Amino acid sequence: MIKFETVFSVKLFFFLLLMAFSCRSTTIQKEAPSSSSESLSSVNDSSASGSSSSWVSSFYTGNTNTLRDLAAAKPLLMGAAVNATVLQQTTSNADLYRQVLAREYNLVTHENAMKMEPVQPEQDVFDFSDVDAVLAFAQSNNMKARGHTLVWAQQIPDWFKNGSFTSNEMEQIMSNHITTVIKHCEDNYPGTVVCYDVVNEAYDMNGNLQNPPYYDAFGSNYIHKAFAYARAAAPANVKLFYNDFSFWDADKRLKVATLLSNLVNDGVPIDGLGVQFHIKTWTGLDDYFAVIDAAIGLGLEVQVTECDIPLQNDQGSDTGALETQAQKYYDLLGMCLARPEVTAFVTWGFTDKYSWVPMFMSGYDHALPFNKNYEAKPAYYALQKALSE
Ligand code: XIL
Repeated sequence: MIKFETVFSVKLFFFLLLMAFSCRSTTIQKEAPSSSSESLSSVNDSSASGSSSSWVSSFYTGNTNTLRDLAAAKPLLMGAAVNATVLQQTTSNADLYRQVLAREYNLVTHENAMKMEPVQPEQDVFDFSDVDAVLAFAQSNNMKARGHTLVWAQQIPDWFKNGSFTSNEMEQIMSNHITTVIKHCEDNYPGTVVCYDVVNEAYDMNGNLQNPPYYDAFGSNYIHKAFAYARAAAPANVKLFYNDFSFWDADKRLKVATLLSNLVNDGVPIDGLGVQFHIKTWTGLDDYFAVIDAAIGLGLEVQVTECDIPLQNDQGSDTGALETQAQKYYDLLGMCLARPEVTAFVTWGFTDKYSWVPMFMSGYDHALPFNKNYEAKPAYYALQKALSE
């Protein structure tokens, strides 16, 4: 009889082989963007976006179905990160924000509101006001939510960042934070949060394990602990994810794939890999899908958790650039739809009016499917087209 360990190590061997073959270019992000020579065949009308739009796009098909209706038929959760401040404003702009969000998406993610800094500003003092605003909106519009995020090095409160704690105290802080957040969501909005990014970005830009101060206290074992506490607090049907970025980098791909393999091998209660697609129009999707397919091979579910595809600042009305961007959205969503294990596609925002891109990526903007006036862009029609096929 073949022993389990033998089967596992054979699987692991092929898995690492796959990763090694996928480790081709670490510099792909730095390549020059290609320009689009698509012929543009049709002129959009305004019916799908609910607003007037003057874009010309080869992706426009005349389809009037919303993204959420098309996605539901797949089935796929179609999501957007939500700015909790705008969501609660009483302006006509915010009305439009809520209207487009509820019309087009069946999944929300808190862009910032569920991070530790706003949720636990003082030790053991919790503030769920913005978390609640997003979850109440989701509930009343028949949407689901992703819980982002429980353990991350960034956007942590000063008391935690600067405090000095024993490892017992750190463990207590971790278990208290994870348990309190999950319990709050479950008690008040049962069935709304379908998954949590339990650990976000365990590797920094240089490929080193991070997430201070947890990492400093427990080493890489902090990841095991975080998933164990989340599993104990969450209902069985709520999925637990590891979320990460920059899979264009070969070293990062290998590290994350190895981490996932080790977590699964160690029996850590992880259900899925969240893939941040903060990419450019020229980013190689195959590199990202090498990790996605490795995760699927390990029996994990996959979600696109943070997708945006910026253009240069001055390309907001550049038909060719918008078409190239649309093509990238189309290709990416198509590759996701070809894999039933990919269960959600979330863009990091939905309107260019509220996007982290201009602030965090100098020289870039216009990354999302709707422009700053909430008009559908070619990228929107590309998503619609991919969902219709
Ligand atoms: C970003 C938000 O969009 C910004 O508003 C905030 O200032 C910083 O964080 N990876 C993640 C997200 O997991 O939480 C980050 O969100 C973007 C990168």
